[in-house]
Amino acid sequence: MTDYRDEAVAPATNIEEFRKVVESRRSVRRFTDEPVPDAVVEDCLDLAMLAPNSSNLQPWEFYVVREPEVRQRLAEACLGQNAARTAQVLIPIIARPDTWKQNSLRNLDYWPEETMPQIVRNYYSKVALLHYNPGPLGSFGLAKKALGLLAGLARPVPRGPYGVSEMKIWAVKSTALAAENMMLAFRAHGYDTCPMEGFDEHRVRRILQLPRHAMVTMILAVGKRAEDGVYHRRYRFPREQFIHRV
Ligand SMILES: Cc1cc2nc3c(=O)[nH]c(=O)nc-3n(C[C@H](O)[C@H](O)[C@H](O)COP(=O)(O)O)c2cc1C
Repeated sequence: MTDYRDEAVAPATNIEEFRKVVESRRSVRRFTDEPVPDAVVEDCLDLAMLAPNSSNLQPWEFYVVREPEVRQRLAEACLGQNAARTAQVLIPIIARPDTWKQNSLRNLDYWPEETMPQIVRNYYSKVALLHYNPGPLGSFGLAKKALGLLAGLARPVPRGPYGVSEMKIWAVKSTALAAENMMLAFRAHGYDTCPMEGFDEHRVRRILQLPRHAMVTMILAVGKRAEDGVYHRRYRFPREQFIHRV
């Protein structure tokens, strides 16, 4: 398989293939009982983790649930939705607003070049540790917000993420991008998905034994599309409603 990650010159791509993948991705609510090969799941996980993410702090985690008994309990926690009940694999996609520190320091270890520019070293060893730290009960966040308000009178300054709740949004943003990468990757492999936020989070947390600060962004149902898997034709509102030109 070709690895396109580090090509200095952007490789030629094919918009029609991309369009086919994007346009044929639907939220599929019923799957056949055809299994999804491990290799496909692993590739889709790898492609998910190539999603852009804030400061390369990679605030995400993925649980691959294949075991029938756990899958069934999880499907019940997903309110018995058809997508969850018929999926061959369920992938809870988790945001971690609390891993910024260890992942900032990991960047120092995993830097892929011979030498790390001082500005990057400084960022991951000092700036990021300050910038993303909400402090106990968000106390640093409040102080940073006050400082930002003052400094911001004179010049543009970053306006967060400041407190604990802003760190949750911060983590979910990057994690949602990984989720979309994953859905498109499954489609490109010929499989389908349904993202679900209709679940009982307490039960999901218990089944997966999630750590305290982990957030279940969505649960992905994965499988082969059944003939009655798509409920209706796709529609969107007129594009003028969403696009502003300035
Ligand atoms: C964050 C999120 C949560 C969703 N939750 C559910 C869900 O719990 N159950 C479901 O059947 N579909 C769910 N969907 C799918 C949406 O209903 C679907 O994406 C939307 O209707 C557009 O249809 P399409 O995905 O086929 O283009 C969810 C989608 C997103 C992005």
